[in-house]
Amino acid sequence: MHSLRRLTIGVSLPSGRRTLSTSSKVVFSGIQPTGTPHIGNYAGAIREWVKLQHDPDENCRRFFSVVDLHAITNSQYAPQLRQRKRETLAALLATGLDPKKSVLFYQSSVPAHTELMWILSCTASTGYLSRMTQWKSKLGLSPHTSLQDGGVKASLKLGLFSYPVLQAADILVHRATHVPVGDDQRQHLEFARECVTNFNHAYGPHLRPPQTIISSSRRIMSLQQPAKKMSKSDVDPKSCILITDTPEEIRRKVMAALTDSMNFVSFDPDARPGVSNLLGILSIFDSSGRDPAQLAKVLENRSLMDLKQLVTDAAISGLQGIRQRYIGFLSADEGKYIDWVEAEGARRARENAEETMVLVRQATGL
Ligand code: TRP
Repeated sequence: MHSLRRLTIGVSLPSGRRTLSTSSKVVFSGIQPTGTPHIGNYAGAIREWVKLQHDPDENCRRFFSVVDLHAITNSQYAPQLRQRKRETLAALLATGLDPKKSVLFYQSSVPAHTELMWILSCTASTGYLSRMTQWKSKLGLSPHTSLQDGGVKASLKLGLFSYPVLQAADILVHRATHVPVGDDQRQHLEFARECVTNFNHAYGPHLRPPQTIISSSRRIMSLQQPAKKMSKSDVDPKSCILITDTPEEIRRKVMAALTDSMNFVSFDPDARPGVSNLLGILSIFDSSGRDPAQLAKVLENRSLMDLKQLVTDAAISGLQGIRQRYIGFLSADEGKYIDWVEAEGARRARENAEETMVLVRQATGL
């Protein structure tokens, strides 16, 4: 086995160093700029990112990217995408990501992501990609669909199919050791490790496999159709609570949430998806960190109206301040503050990514 702890390379790095330190902790994660983050994105990912800023390890570096290249796997209206990128960055700042502690940038500002993607795609297996579930669910196909099935090739675009290769490149180009993501990203992280194995097998032990950090919070479902995941792109605005919603909007959405006709509280995601989802939301904001089943026990004698009231109050106080900060960041310095944060983040991300690319180009003979 080659040691992955410290790699020595025979070319000079942009910083003038001749060794590439790979022993320190590097956190990387990404979020799509497809709309304002909702409480599911918050509990499943962003809140974990903010917590990781408190890591006492002084050498730990953190990179969080607004992944605009991934967003165009669905075609976008350019002015809207540009606006949403800024809004997503403002939302990350509003939840507590600090540009002094974390590198915040747009994926497309760092061309090394796409360069490494191409290189990885030369050793990535299409068989593996064809078994992955995201392209199927995005096209509304069953998880058992195969590439050979009728009509699939006509609707499946190469960008959606190779989405996981770009995601692997995002992570590997920054030599990330830890990737905090929601539960739905497990398969993508396994694929990233597979990309490391394939590349290192062909060219030597230059890339390092990342660890997945999965948030312990449950998946949050739509308030209107609790069998479906809460989604920023849902056409029904009542289906999700955005982290920038006003107290009045939160109240209206929770009160209108679909439950059932049994007027007591219990946790049973299969039989009572709506009520269980409300308990899941309550658990996000529970200061004692109780899970939904524990909360159901405490609330077993309460009505569904009481439950909705508690969820409303908890979400309002849990999200308090985010909206004001979000509006403040978007308008700060006549809107230029966001662009400045991004430009500075992109500069640091390009520098870090370039260190990996020097090594990768050398190893591949480019
Ligand atoms: N696919 C992720 C999502 O939809 C976003 C993402 C892109 C990402 N690149 C990443 C997450 C790299 C973690 C690491 O949520």
